Amino acid sequence: MEGTMRDAAGRADAPAVVGARGVTMAFGDNVLFRDVTFEVRQGEVFVILGGSGSGKSTLLKLLIGLHRPTGGEIRILGEDLGAARGQERRELLSRIGVMWQSGALFGSMTLLENVMLPLEEHTRLPRAAREEVARVKLGLVGLSDAADRLPAEISGGMAKRAGIARAMALDPPLLFLDEPSAGLDPITSAGLDQLIRDLARDLGTTFIVVTHELQSILAIGDRCIMLDKQAKGMIAEGDPRALRDHATHPTVRAFFRREAA
Ligand SMILES: Nc1ncnc2c1ncn2[C@@H]1O[C@H](COP(=O)(O)OP(=O)(O)OP(=O)(O)O)[C@@H](O)[C@H]1O
Ligand SMILES: [Mg+2]
Repeated sequence: MEGTMRDAAGRADAPAVVGARGVTMAFGDNVLFRDVTFEVRQGEVFVILGGSGSGKSTLLKLLIGLHRPTGGEIRILGEDLGAARGQERRELLSRIGVMWQSGALFGSMTLLENVMLPLEEHTRLPRAAREEVARVKLGLVGLSDAADRLPAEISGGMAKRAGIARAMALDPPLLFLDEPSAGLDPITSAGLDQLIRDLARDLGTTFIVVTHELQSILAIGDRCIMLDKQAKGMIAEGDPRALRDHATHPTVRAFFRREAA
């Protein structure tokens, strides 16, 4: 496998908030990956790379307990999410924010109502306070003026940002973003990268981000792993800048240098 464990700039001692050990995932006979092992430390921006169909979204689903791995262990915020039940599971999930690849806003609710939803489900804040928090989150992603619009009335990029605002509603210490900048214009995308960096640095929020955008990866990623369909597993791990400069695996090189493999 390509790359090395990073000398995490100032975070090497931070506690691991996500750990995958020897994780294998198959749907029936279709083995996506074997023996995936990594740790993510608090305040890191950890990027998952890989071609279409390599299992990136599935790995996210494993990490948040939506699927159970075929083999191996996953721990998140110090607990085994797969084993957590009832109230324990609810509490754990309230500390995780997720923005899906598709955005998945509720079409009959305004953006403001969409962002208020997790606050309704997981807190006892009165309505006015929920609204206040939701407005702040929409402001963070530059959507203050669109709070009262329905998802059908906004652009795809705005829907992405609204999805991120909703994922941040409860100030989760751990945020999962599946292709947050896909379909965004370069300026909006750079703004989003800045937001991710700021939240990681200022609040110690940990991010696990699936993305293909090389610029984004180099701008935000402390560390990354690369999944590969042919290899059915990880083919690289490390600092994206080091991988760009030193990778020798043809697929890894091709990705970081924008060459044909
Ligand atoms: N629930 C499921 N049941 C069966 N097969 C599935 C399921 N979810 C995903 N797969 C298969 O697993 C493979 C990986 O899918 P996944 O969505 O994780 O890929 P990805 O790396 O996120 O791709 P993309 O970059 O296109 O989003 C695909 O071949 C897909 O068909
Ligand atoms: Mg995907």
